[in-house]
Amino acid sequence: MARILTGIQSTGIPHLGNVLGAIRPAIRMSAAPGNDSFLFIADLHSFTAIRDPRELRENTHAVAAAWLACGLDVAKTTFYRQSDVPEVTELTWYLGCMTPYPMLANAHSFKDKLDRLSEVNAGVFFYPVLMTADIVLYDAHFVPVGKDQKQHLEIARDIAGAFNRLYGEDTFVVPEPRMEEQAMIVPGTDGQKMSKSYGNTINVFAEEKDLKKQVMGIVSDSTPLEAPKDPDADNTFKLFALVAPPDAVEAMRTNYRQGGYGYGHAKKELLSVLLDGFAKERSEYARLMNDRAELDRQLRIGAEKARKIAAHTMNRVRARAGYLPKA
Ligand code: TRP
Repeated sequence: MARILTGIQSTGIPHLGNVLGAIRPAIRMSAAPGNDSFLFIADLHSFTAIRDPRELRENTHAVAAAWLACGLDVAKTTFYRQSDVPEVTELTWYLGCMTPYPMLANAHSFKDKLDRLSEVNAGVFFYPVLMTADIVLYDAHFVPVGKDQKQHLEIARDIAGAFNRLYGEDTFVVPEPRMEEQAMIVPGTDGQKMSKSYGNTINVFAEEKDLKKQVMGIVSDSTPLEAPKDPDADNTFKLFALVAPPDAVEAMRTNYRQGGYGYGHAKKELLSVLLDGFAKERSEYARLMNDRAELDRQLRIGAEKARKIAAHTMNRVRARAGYLPKA
């Protein structure tokens, strides 16, 4: 069995881009036979930026509820909160002491912030070390990575390799990147890639009136209602094509080309497909957000499995580094 592990940022309520581009593919992968899948909410990484305890807790729950609502099965996937396994922070220290300073200074995620160093905390600098600990603590073989995380995985491989050379090649599994097939590009309401930082998201888990406001706010050009329109140049159509059944997409395409069909009509259809298509996910999300004890119970199942493996790895590391009697 190949163990595949990935961390999920907990920066807020997942939006349509997250659902189509990350959540669904990861759930499909974790359901595939032969994969022993570990998925965790990287809430300790969030502490580099979030200072409000309520927001931190809320984000973690929102992310967990969204993944569970989309069908993640905690019996098949080890799904947990990073902070529920505090061993990861101890391991971060040992690994940090193996990490050459320039390796971290060269990380893009840090270098991007060099022009405002006074605002950067050491947690941002240490981010790749914590990420390495996330991976090697669980003997993960593969880590699915997009372009943005590729360098972090190279750092993880370097650190694990350095530790192994000193303390024994069988201390850590050196993780392999698994380059993600081209992730689905989901346009935001303004046509740029959908992203929380661009403020152009469609929040499929939001209340209906908020979702409606976002859909009605999708940017369109000023072609009059009567005139024919190019479907492939329009954001509403592009989004519709990603979520609607193929025959509905073809019907809308024809409507655009014929004219007499406005962007407002298209937006109404998009809203109704979102409400129908995500009805189950939306109600399950709301149910879980109203039952935090149930959410925590589901996360605890994963934490217990994760903790057993973590305890094992940590004893190996402590013994080899000289903190426990020689194993
Ligand atoms: N840094 C990753 C991101 O920004 C999240 C993450 C944290 C992660 N720890 C990880 C991903 C370990 C893979 C493996 O998306």
